[in-house]
Parts: sequence; structure tokens; C-alpha cells
Amino acid sequence: MNDKHILLIISGGIAAVKLPGLIRKLSAQGARVTPVLTQSGAQFVTPLSIAALARSKVYTELFDLTEEAQMGHIELSRAADLILVAPATAQVMAKMAQGMADDLASTLLLATDTPVMIAPSMNVRMWQHPATQRNLKRLQDDGVQLIGPNDGEMACGEYGPGRMAEADEILAQVAGFFRSGPLAGRHVLVTSGPTHEPIDPVRYIANRSSGAQGAALATALRDLGALVSFVTGPARVPPPSGVEVHPVQTAQEMLAVVERLLPVDAAICAAAVADWRVEGAHAQKIKKNPSGDFPILEFAENPDILALVSAHDLRPQLVVGFAAETENVIGNAAQKLLRKGCDWIVANDVTPQTGIMGGAHNKVTLIDADGTEIWDEMPKTDVARRLALRIADDLT
Ligand code: C5P
Repeated sequence: MNDKHILLIISGGIAAVKLPGLIRKLSAQGARVTPVLTQSGAQFVTPLSIAALARSKVYTELFDLTEEAQMGHIELSRAADLILVAPATAQVMAKMAQGMADDLASTLLLATDTPVMIAPSMNVRMWQHPATQRNLKRLQDDGVQLIGPNDGEMACGEYGPGRMAEADEILAQVAGFFRSGPLAGRHVLVTSGPTHEPIDPVRYIANRSSGAQGAALATALRDLGALVSFVTGPARVPPPSGVEVHPVQTAQEMLAVVERLLPVDAAICAAAVADWRVEGAHAQKIKKNPSGDFPILEFAENPDILALVSAHDLRPQLVVGFAAETENVIGNAAQKLLRKGCDWIVANDVTPQTGIMGGAHNKVTLIDADGTEIWDEMPKTDVARRLALRIADDLT
């Protein structure tokens, strides 16, 4: 985002308290942020703190002659590469939808031909109200891009959609906007890492996946310009920067996040999802039994995320699965392609001697409806780059 100029309109919602963190992240990525604070926004964050973080004057008043002399509102709105409204309250969305211009923020939004993104933040009922949904539809028809909102607990104590997207999610979408490459404007979902299936509050069932291949893939897709939603279990490898990170623990949580993120252009299921979870995980730590009896764990089958995405009403144009096998790699993987209904399977041999699980290299075979393609052994980052280019080829 080097030297990209973002006009950041901060309106009055409790989520404005997340803005200092967002400004810090945008600046760290090289963006130049010019803040505009509405009167109600100033009830939640102070102009002084915003100015200090953005290292910029904070604009607040429409009829401030000094400001007009320095930079008129028309110029202010057009000098930016992107206008970001965060938080976008129901009120700001309504004004934008109506084309009202009664303060600096709304006037800037009306006077501009610069692309606009909004990160709504409001109470769940306000978000679901037909008036807000009508306004949203109109704004989207006008080309305004939407970030979030998320489901979650609200400051008011209610639960549901309306919570402003997290700073990292906003950052990823803004970064995606400025990116170029064959996947610019494409949204790709990547699942990665293991899942942890609780036995009780302190114990869990896991697997040896490090999340290295999934993280490398997310990086490669990001570098080709995609907006990447990275849904990751508790992996050893940290998530890449510039992608939208959704941390989860269990398979069921992973499925819920994946379904919420649909529709996307492509879904790459690189996660090593646990096939089973413990039925009725204990609410308290299981104690050793003095009589020497062992606890007996019963398992329930986890949802198959890859199969569900492949059969979903909102099925992505391209669905890719991974098959980690310890025997009959190609035969098992080919069956998996059919059983799960995905478009490609990336198969690899994870017997301990290969060092693939948790290692830096991978040797994969790509299987699709046309047949199999055996790739040489190479670093996971190279597998990722090659696969990302193939994905770009398929989507464009
Ligand atoms: O059946 P198996 O686990 O070998 O299939 C591997 C592929 O299926 C991977 O792409 C993995 O991400 C996906 N998978 C899934 N949900 C599960 C199990 C596997 O998405 N519950």
C-alpha cells in the first residue's frame, strides 16, 4: 500500500475505539491516512489521538474557512485513492444512500468519484431492519464495497450480525483493493492447519499438521492479488500478513466460518481437519479414577467441510482439496476427488519417512477430471506458487 492515500471517515459508534489499531496497521503497510471525524465519532475517539497515530491533520468541520483555504472538501475527497468509512453507522449509511450532505463526512462522500468502502457497525436489529438493508442494497448498487459486518456479541449485550469487522479483516480487504495481479478482485478462501477437538477443558485430540502448506498457499494467492480469507486451526506456522485471518479450534467452528464466508471464487481446503470429535466432551477436567478404570471416549463424525462446500448452493467456481495419505496415494486421492465432489485433489504421501508432515518440502500429485500430474519434490513455498498460478489460470 506504499503511498496509497486513504481518506478515513470515522463515524460515531463504539467500534470507533478499534480505529487507532487500524490506523497503526494501515500506516505500517505504507498507506497515508487522512482522518475525518464526525461529531459523534469524536465522542468515542479524540481528534488528538487520531492525528498523532495518522500523523495527519484530522478534519472535522464543513464550514471551517481555514480548512477550506488549505484544502477544500472537493479536493479532500478526490485526492484520495480510497475512501474508507469505519465504523459506518446506520445513520451514515442512510445519508449516503439518500445523497445527503449536511456535514463534512457526508459532503465528502457525495462530492467524490473515488471508490468507497464501508465497515458497518450497529446493533443487530438496526442492521437487520429493512430500511438498513434497503440502504445497503442501494449503496452496493452504487458500487460501494462492503467489509463485514461480523456476527458477535455487541457492546449493548445482544448477539448477531452488526459487529464491525476486525482491524485485520478491514486491512486485508483494503490491501486487496490496491493489489494487482491475475487474481486481483478475486476472493479465495484457504483452510489450513490442524483442528483441536476437545476431550475436556484441558485435553484435546489433534494431528501433526503445521499449517505450513496452507500458509504458503495463502501467501502465494495474496501475491497474485487475491483477497484471501484464511481460516486456520491452531497451527505452528504463523498466518501471513495481508490476509484476512479467521482463527478456529474445531472442525465445527471451521465449517461455520467457511459457510459464513461464502460466496467466494475459489475454496482451497488445505486444513487437516479431524475426522472425529469426542462425543459429549466433558465440561470439567476428567479426573483419574482411584479404582483404575480408564475413561472411555466416544467419537462422533465431524462435518466434511470440503464435501459440503463442493455441494453447496453457493459452490465456488473452483474447489480444491488435499489428500494426505500413507498408502496407495494416487488411488485413494482419485477416489476422494469423486467422493467429495471437488475439482482438484492435491495428494501427498505423509508416511513419517517422507518428512512432509511438518517439514519444509512437499511432493505432490495433482489430480483432476483430466488425469494426474506428478510434480517433483520442491519447497512448500514453490508448491504453493505453482498451485496459485494454476488457480489463477483456472479462474481467469
Ligand atoms: O478425507 P480426508 O480427511 O483425507 O480428506 C482430506 C481433504 O478433505 C482435505 O482437503 C481436508 O481439508 C478436507 N476435509 C474437510 N473436512 C473434514 C475432513 C477433511 O474439509 N472433516
